[in-house]
Amino acid sequence: MPTQSQGLRARQQRVDALLRSELRTCNAADRLQQAMTYAVMGGGKRLRPLLAYAAAESVGGHMEAADIPAIAVELIHAYSLVHDDLPAMDDDALRRGLPTCHIAFDEATAILAGDALQALAFELLANSPLLSTGHGTRLQMILELARASGANGMVAGQMLDIEAAGNVRDENALGRMHSLKTGALITASVMLGALSTNLATPAQLAALRQFANRAGLAFQIKDDLLDVEAETGVIGKQQGKDAARNKPTYTSLFGVAGARQRLQATVEEAEAALTTGLQAAGLRELLHLIADRHY
Ligand code: IPE
Ligand code: IPE
Ligand code: MG
Ligand code: MG
Ligand code: MG
Repeated sequence: MPTQSQGLRARQQRVDALLRSELRTCNAADRLQQAMTYAVMGGGKRLRPLLAYAAAESVGGHMEAADIPAIAVELIHAYSLVHDDLPAMDDDALRRGLPTCHIAFDEATAILAGDALQALAFELLANSPLLSTGHGTRLQMILELARASGANGMVAGQMLDIEAAGNVRDENALGRMHSLKTGALITASVMLGALSTNLATPAQLAALRQFANRAGLAFQIKDDLLDVEAETGVIGKQQGKDAARNKPTYTSLFGVAGARQRLQATVEEAEAALTTGLQAAGLRELLHLIADRHY
C-alpha cells in the first residue's frame, strides 16, 4: 500500500506470524493444510486485521486484545476469496500475483479449504487461549461475525453479485450489494476489534459501526475503480474482468469520474462518523489507505 507506515508493516507481520502459527497447529490432512496455507499466506494487505487493531485502540484498548479477532476476520476473508475465484463464481486464475487456489490445487480442494478456513475462524473465537475475554464477549463476537458472513451478510452480497450480472441496477441496489459482499466483513472487523477490549461503550460501538459501514462501501468502490484503472501486475489479479463479465460496478454505472466522486463522498461520510469519544487516528489512517491504495 502507498504511504504505508513502518507501524502498519510491523502489524501485518504480526498477523502473518499469528496466521502461520494457527495454520501449522490445525492438524488438517496434508493437502488440505497446504491449500489452506496457500490461500491465507499469499500476501494480502491484511486490511481487515489492521482495522480490528485500530478499532481496539480507538476505544482505549491494547491492540493485542484483538489478535484473535484480527486473524478470525482474515480467515473468513481468505475463504471468501478462494470461493469468489472459483469457476462457478468469478472464474479467476490470478490472485495476489499467484495462481488462484483451485488452479494451484483443484476445485474440490479449493472448496474444502475455504470451508475449513471459515470453520477455523469460529473455532478460534470460541476456544483460543490467546483471547482473554470472557464467554459473553466471545459469544457476542461469534454472533457478529456469523451474521456478517452469512445469508444476511457477505454471502447475500455474493448472491446478489451473481444474480445482478448483466442487469442494470440503480445506485441504492448497487450500494446495498457492495455493502453486503464487502462492507459486512469490514464492519465485523471493526466491531470485533472494539468488542475484544471490553472497554467500548454503546455510543462508541454505534459510531464505529457507522464508520465501518461507510469505510466498507468505500473499499468496494475503490476495488471497482482498480479493476478499470490499475494494471494486472500491480493489483495481482486480472484487470478488466468486471467489464468482461458484465458485473454491475460503480464504474459501469457512473463511469470513472462518477465512481471517484462517490468514493470521495463515502470517505467523507466515514470520517464524519468518527466522533469525539474515539481515539480515531489509526482508523483515519486506514480509511485513507482504503481510498488511496494502488492495489
Ligand atoms: C479483495 O480484497 C476482495 C474484495 C473484498 C474486494 P482485498 O483487496 O482486501 O484483498 P487482499 O487480501 O489484500 O488480497
Ligand atoms: C469479492 O468481490 C467479494 C468477496 C470475496 C466476498 P470481487 O469479486 O470484486 O473481488 P475481487 O475483485 O475478485 O478481488
Ligand atoms: Mg466477485
Ligand atoms: Mg472476484
Ligand atoms: Mg473486484
